Amino acid sequence: MSESEKVDILLLGAGGREHALLRKLVESSRAGKLWAAPGNGGILAEATLAEGLDQDDPVAVADFATTHGIGLVVIGPEAPLVEGVGDAVRAAGIACFGPNGDAAQMEGSKLFAKQVMERAGVPTACYQSFTKAGPAEAYVRELDGPCVVKADGLAAGKGVIVAQTTEQALAGVRECFSGTFGEAGKTVVVEEMLKGPECSLLALTDGKTVLPLASAQDHKRALEGDLGPNTGGMGVYSPVPFVTPEEHEAMVDIERRVVAQLAADGITYSGCLYGGFMLTKDGPKVLEFNARFGDPETQVVLPRMDCDLVDVFLRCDNGTLDGAQVRWEDDFAVSVVLTSTGYPGRYEKGKVITGIEDAERLPGVTVYHAGTKLVGGELVTNGGRVLNVTAVADTFQGAREQAYKAAELIDFEGKTLRHDIGARALRGREAWEV
Ligand code: AMP
Ligand code: GLY
Repeated sequence: MSESEKVDILLLGAGGREHALLRKLVESSRAGKLWAAPGNGGILAEATLAEGLDQDDPVAVADFATTHGIGLVVIGPEAPLVEGVGDAVRAAGIACFGPNGDAAQMEGSKLFAKQVMERAGVPTACYQSFTKAGPAEAYVRELDGPCVVKADGLAAGKGVIVAQTTEQALAGVRECFSGTFGEAGKTVVVEEMLKGPECSLLALTDGKTVLPLASAQDHKRALEGDLGPNTGGMGVYSPVPFVTPEEHEAMVDIERRVVAQLAADGITYSGCLYGGFMLTKDGPKVLEFNARFGDPETQVVLPRMDCDLVDVFLRCDNGTLDGAQVRWEDDFAVSVVLTSTGYPGRYEKGKVITGIEDAERLPGVTVYHAGTKLVGGELVTNGGRVLNVTAVADTFQGAREQAYKAAELIDFEGKTLRHDIGARALRGREAWEV
């Protein structure tokens, strides 16, 4: 493949993250025809549906890519990565963005990630792992206070119990071993509770070069004031204004050491490594690694990134990321998630959505689709997180105001949003010192 040839692309996933990836991919001079599976209302307005394709089926994805002359498969979510879709696509001789199954264990197994971190000597919460409830309960009692209980495997974001008391932790241990999380809960990690503001730092890598992207901060709780149940993310901003240059460098160093450790272990990590950090008084410590772009972090990081994304993704796959050209705009992005009333619990679907064009007419605003669907040409809600309203501006405050102005212009029955996205960051670091 020459460096100017167009490539047809297959994008796997159905969320706001994938819509943001799509919007950046189509800007590339190298983007050919775009296919998507399973997609959403926004993605399928701009890409062709790969009908009936199961994104988690390695053989089916590799066959589809081969049959349709795809030159690059971009994997958005974690499940296909852990299932080995990347391995199958690469084995078919097709470029893939996203790590192979062995490297995706950084997200697929908390214990695997902890062991890599230990070998790499990077700071993370102290922990022990268990395959039986009795010893796990004994350890929780020994800790005698706040701790975090984690199901080892993928549990659709539900396998982490942040326990303030021994009783909550014991209940968490029992829940994991009760089979609620299936195979994912057969091994349980119990770890020390870390304190401080959280920060995500995504990095692209080809297994040798690590190219850090901008920092971002998600708002995971459903209700204002960071209260209520955990969600897939209610809003996000980038960069995180109060991260010091030393902290940023420490996070980058951790990611470099992890990628180098994996390489030393014989595992090439190619794709996006998502580091979730707690900015503690003793410096950044790892909370988790994900093997993919963050959602909704991608919706504020990519709009600020000046690059040819097709070229960059191909370089991650073929080991030439050191030659990538990436520039960062000196600006800020804030994204507000519009959800269906009831989310993350039960909610209704099929409500007509209006006002997206009006919102996108505002300078700096892009509306990424998450839970939407086109039915007979009409756009309706199809999930808990419906839309991500992102605004980019020269100042943090400006981006925030514009995102909320745009969010007001969009309407659907049951529309719900948090009004305090980025509010704590505006108050500075002290807002976390409670
Ligand atoms: P994880 O999937 O491991 O990132 O956990 C989900 C969320 O749980 C994180 O974003 C944190 O808010 C919280 N969390 C995880 N581990 C810890 C920890 N050791 N201390 C405090 N909070 C944690
Ligand atoms: N924003 C959290 C995640 O993508 O896992």
